[in-house]
Amino acid sequence: MNNSPISIRVNLSPPDNYEIIIGQNILDNCGTKIAEHLSLQHCVIISDSNVAPLYAKQVQQSLHSAGIKSDLVTVPAGESSKSLSHVEEICREMIAAGHDRHSFVIALGGGVIGDLAGLAASVFYRGIPLIQIPTTIVSQVDSSIGGKTGVNAPEGKNLIGAFHQPKLVIADTTTLQTLPEREFNEGFAEAIKHAAIRDGDMLEEIMNVRGSSNLDSLIAKNAEIKARVVEEDEKELLGTRAHLNYGHTIGHAIETAGGYGEFLHGEAISLGLICANFISSEMFDFPSEQSDRIKNALIKFNLPVNLDKKISTDSILNIMRADKKFENGQIRFVALHELGRPELTDKVTEAMISESIATIR
Ligand code: NAD
Ligand code: GLY
Repeated sequence: MNNSPISIRVNLSPPDNYEIIIGQNILDNCGTKIAEHLSLQHCVIISDSNVAPLYAKQVQQSLHSAGIKSDLVTVPAGESSKSLSHVEEICREMIAAGHDRHSFVIALGGGVIGDLAGLAASVFYRGIPLIQIPTTIVSQVDSSIGGKTGVNAPEGKNLIGAFHQPKLVIADTTTLQTLPEREFNEGFAEAIKHAAIRDGDMLEEIMNVRGSSNLDSLIAKNAEIKARVVEEDEKELLGTRAHLNYGHTIGHAIETAGGYGEFLHGEAISLGLICANFISSEMFDFPSEQSDRIKNALIKFNLPVNLDKKISTDSILNIMRADKKFENGQIRFVALHELGRPELTDKVTEAMISESIATIR
């Protein structure tokens, strides 16, 4: 039996308010939901080579029933599709299919598709509406919410991007059943991050995830955390949104150093979280018992807590120097005083970062 869908609002300045709908088997009705939010009749669904064969037809049928014509553009699955050349390809396919400023984009897939399709929507005809239909844990708890879109440069992750809030997020949790085990597990790194910065008690719930019933409520709780942070600091100008980068400064550099093939996003973030815990204890005496709780949650989902020597500390540090968070030779780093109490600091030194990486060798 399905529970009723959960609705969460993201309250930004109009017209950027939107609803996140989380529930089981809600893809079948996505056309009607979209039609309630947008009065446009032509869209492009952007998806990847794993997700499109599973869900694109269902979405297209639902759109058709709601009187919306759709085209499908599919890119290869994986982080390497998050590139400017794919944005160009998508935009040109949209032009060829007759799309214009009266069209909208549906991102159907995980965080890679959300970020890529979101950036395409933000630049196509100087910006057309975006609907997010996230199909991974990472994208349902985090990336589909908040309007950060972007692609990678060879120099680093997400260096080219734009803010482009979606008009609606439809997170059908039944889609998570087709995720391979590794991709399912990696998603919990972002939920563990949310627990670390906002809700330490949620670590217990994460440790007790069983089947779909409490997974839905856990996803909703995470979506709510993300929504509230975004409401407080939409453009990451005040510091609150930067707290979401806990574990990401080093994690992103590890992901890039691995060449976007070695680690899934959440796996690199797992390593980044262990490093950030060490830095937190150096900076703010973050209690080791709390650090262990984070580490145990990562281990529960088979997330890596050790980094192979073939990815050198120097390569990670070099990548970090090109990071957006690196300003005037100083890194803006998020560290914890305790679970739920993060602080943004520019006092973290390169030596401390090297030491933190030594702890995961
Ligand atoms: P992903 O999009 O690559 O998806 C992981 C894999 O699962 C892919 O192979 C995909 O094809 C497959 N897949 C997706 N849904 C599936 C399903 N339902 N069934 C079967 N297979 C499925 O990766 P991800 O972990 O979802 O997202 C990671 C990306 O998100 C990174 O690029 C990261 O930078 C980005 N991100 C962005 C934000 C943001 O705020 N914009 C936040 C967090 C992460
Ligand atoms: N994932 C970080 C952010 O949305 O700000």
